[in-house]
Amino acid sequence: MDRALLLSPFHDRPRQNIRVDLGQHVEPPTVIMTTKQTPIHSGFGATTTAREVLGNRRLDGITAVVTGGYAGVGLETTRALSKAGATVVVPARTRDKARAALAGMDRVEVESLDLFIPESIDAFAARFLGSNRALNVLINNAGIMGAPLARNARGIESQLATNHLGHFQLTARLWPALRKARGARVVALSSRGHARAAFDFDDPNFERRPYDKWIAYGQSKSANALFALALDGRGEPDGIRAFSVHPGAVATDLMRFMPEEEIRSAVSAAEAISPLKSSEQGAATSIWCATSPQLDGMGGIYCEDCDIAEAVPADFPQPRGVRPWASDPVLAERLWKKSEEWTGVTLENRPSSRPSSVTDSVEYIPPVLP
Ligand SMILES: NC(=O)c1ccc[n+]([C@@H]2O[C@H](COP(=O)([O-])OP(=O)(O)OC[C@H]3O[C@@H](n4cnc5c(N)ncnc54)[C@H](OP(=O)(O)O)[C@@H]3O)[C@@H](O)[C@H]2O)c1
Repeated sequence: MDRALLLSPFHDRPRQNIRVDLGQHVEPPTVIMTTKQTPIHSGFGATTTAREVLGNRRLDGITAVVTGGYAGVGLETTRALSKAGATVVVPARTRDKARAALAGMDRVEVESLDLFIPESIDAFAARFLGSNRALNVLINNAGIMGAPLARNARGIESQLATNHLGHFQLTARLWPALRKARGARVVALSSRGHARAAFDFDDPNFERRPYDKWIAYGQSKSANALFALALDGRGEPDGIRAFSVHPGAVATDLMRFMPEEEIRSAVSAAEAISPLKSSEQGAATSIWCATSPQLDGMGGIYCEDCDIAEAVPADFPQPRGVRPWASDPVLAERLWKKSEEWTGVTLENRPSSRPSSVTDSVEYIPPVLP
């Protein structure tokens, strides 16, 4: 298929090549492939807001789905898309809350979806597909953090089920609409919390190891980054590109499971690293990944502060960059297959033999989990 036909209205600039330079991070003993994780110096940064990312660009005619697009970072993501002219479908598990939060926004539709319940995902996707619309932008934003141990009907731990597997199923079910857009983008909200834990293929649902809510969150956020990487390898032939995002530290209801004291110490620990972002700033990297022409021709990359994040080694002391276990295409493929097994959902698209985002091999020491 002619690639020029796959470009959507916000893809209007030539591709850029990204140089790979991972040499200084090489450490034995495990050899893996890695992604083009080199900042492009976008001109934006940590304090950029979603509106500033868009500038004067219009998104009229674009249809977007933003999960959890009615609270925190997602609410501001919806607002920015709506103000730029996009139609935004917001699937909500608490519809009254969503209607109240989104009141007065133009072209915003509240739908029903609970990512913890597989049947609810299928039902929402079927309704969307039934509308015969193309889906230009899918922002897999909804999430929970630090939840007590619970598992869904499939036996999947709640943070993994909500943050990763529910979105995996949703994306796969919406695939025909994404293809129809002939140039769509999918954004997966990850987190710098991915640095806490690689995906544990031996015991992802904490059946044999003690439950740790932070390890579970970190695992789910590593899964989000790996998901975007594997998805991009499958979507590129159809013009579907995928990105993962750390939005920054934003004070939202995401901390709802944390006791007061834990919230206080988490906020001061985050502030010691950098000032907290507003929700408008938190939404900026999602909007950048979903719409910016600066990312044309790219995908499968982890972004933060409106730029491509740097690849950093496992033991990197600073809370930024993408760790090796969240940018490894071999792990991404393994997780993809596991996710297919868990959900029973497969895409007709096969992975490209060598994902376009893969450019080099490096070595790293696997993380030591506490
Ligand atoms: N805030 C941060 O500092 C931060 C940092 C790094 C990454 N992130 C990531 O950014 C994303 C957004 O976080 P946020 O801070 O904006 O959180 P938030 O304010 O708590 O919003 C999360 C949204 O997800 C929805 N949601 C949760 N479980 C759901 C389910 N089972 N089905 C459908 N929707 C569900 C929530 O709906 P209800 O309100 O109805 O429960 C809410 O609308 C998350 O993926 C998070 O991991 C946030």
